[in-house]
Amino acid sequence: MIRIAASILSADFARLGEEVEAVTQAGADWIHLDVMDGHFVPNLTIGPDVVRAVRRHTSLPLDTHLMIEHPERFVQAFAEAGSDYISVHVEIASNVASVLDRIRDLGKEPAVVVNPDTPLERALPFLDRVAMLLIMSVHPGFAAQAFIESVLLKIRQAAEYRAQRGLSFLIEVDGGIKVHNAAQVAAAGADVLVSGSGIFATGNYSATIAEMRRRAEVARKKGIE
Ligand code: DX5
Ligand code: ZN
Repeated sequence: MIRIAASILSADFARLGEEVEAVTQAGADWIHLDVMDGHFVPNLTIGPDVVRAVRRHTSLPLDTHLMIEHPERFVQAFAEAGSDYISVHVEIASNVASVLDRIRDLGKEPAVVVNPDTPLERALPFLDRVAMLLIMSVHPGFAAQAFIESVLLKIRQAAEYRAQRGLSFLIEVDGGIKVHNAAQVAAAGADVLVSGSGIFATGNYSATIAEMRRRAEVARKKGIE
């Protein structure tokens, strides 16, 4: 089963509640929230108060992607704000394993993230303790960048590793996913497709999400690109 996570980074922030309700009604499976601190990535976005506000406008799982240098300082606040999944980058200086365990202790689903230039090997030590592996397919920081094709290999490697080890973490892919490339991402092994501009920049969220899901599910079943 493919899940479509709508990234609100490309929503109209002045009408965020309505936008979240619109993608919820349009059939999105999850809401993806991008948290940026201006240090780990060269941009600033939202904090726990916005996650809490979004929580009141949807019953869908909230997928909080922390692009911040010190997630250990904030995971409790994001958990209490209503996040369901909380993702932490392997590239941070902090102790990744202890942050992931803390997320689990808070009753939330921990996920580990790798940037496009970070080899999958960096994430392997954490894959038996996470609910999800998030593979970035753009350099994090901004919406509407082009999908980096070389990441497809990493998605396939992650899916093979999971099968070989009998693990069950979800594989999520984030950045540059649109209707036209959803099939190749799913065929490579992705379970969760994050899409921001690929949904919010289209006129009909419902038709976009339905077509993205249809193409991804067909490709996933065939296992071809
Ligand atoms: C990028 C963010 C993504 C972003 C994706 O740093 O992590 O979640 O919103 O946006 P699109 O789908 O437009 O590439
Ligand atoms: Zn993201």
